[in-house]
Amino acid sequence: MKIEGSVALVTGANRGLGKALVEALVEAGAAKVYAAARDARQISAGGARVIPLALDTTKPEQIAAAAKTAGDVTLLINNAGALNAHNVLTMGPAELEADFRTNVVGTLDVIKGFLPVLERAPGGATIVNVLSLAALGSFPPLGGYSASKAAAYSITQALRPELRARRIEVLAVLPGPIDTDMVRDLAMPKTSPADTARGLLAGVARGDEEIFPDPMSRDFGSGFYADPKGLERTLASAA
Ligand SMILES: NC(=O)c1ccc[n+]([C@@H]2O[C@H](COP(=O)([O-])OP(=O)(O)OC[C@H]3O[C@@H](n4cnc5c(N)ncnc54)[C@H](OP(=O)(O)O)[C@@H]3O)[C@@H](O)[C@H]2O)c1
Repeated sequence: MKIEGSVALVTGANRGLGKALVEALVEAGAAKVYAAARDARQISAGGARVIPLALDTTKPEQIAAAAKTAGDVTLLINNAGALNAHNVLTMGPAELEADFRTNVVGTLDVIKGFLPVLERAPGGATIVNVLSLAALGSFPPLGGYSASKAAAYSITQALRPELRARRIEVLAVLPGPIDTDMVRDLAMPKTSPADTARGLLAGVARGDEEIFPDPMSRDFGSGFYADPKGLERTLASAA
């Protein structure tokens, strides 16, 4: 998909990767970027092409209102994500539910809410689901979160054939660690949000169904297709 001239919407756009995506979209020539956040007042920069939008992805009434306001979206980037569920033996059910509510149910509800909008996009539309390398192989210290991203990946695969017939492409992004609040306490090499955002948009422009936006995910990603058990072992030993 051509980013230049597109009308994008990014969820969770107030900080981290979402904020970097808004900046990268403007840089790449998007005609308009809806920067959606639970608290739209936190959207500060970006210039005239950036439109702040209130959107908690777990609130159906806010999704409906956003789809009405942003009725010209051609590129929907589901970036909002939560990390509450860590080790699967010590996490509580509420933590697991919180990650599934945002990362799985919220993402799907936003997609469903925006389908009428995306279906009327003149040249077809693209949905981008920001998942994680942990969708392909569990990272045990974040085992509950990994499970939610694996579920979101499965839903992404289920949507592809359903929506292709409706001229909507569905892409998955599988990043390695990004230097944001989400993994502030994890000591490991991380890619900057700006570099990850640029890698992500390059993958969207190519139309990659699976986008590996940073050097670590590219390494692990190519390894995954050759040896899925190898990724499982590597992530387990990185814990
Ligand atoms: N950081 C990593 O290492 C990493 C690696 C792979 C994938 N990812 C994925 O990349 C995406 C962005 O994460 P990040 O690293 O930028 O994390 P982050 O800095 O923690 O930001 C998370 C963003 O999601 C928003 N959000 C959470 N729940 C929401 C909800 N119910 N409705 C709307 N927005 C919500 C947050 O909004 P508030 O400010 O209101 O909380 C915030 O803007 C996530 O999907 C994450 O799982 C991250």
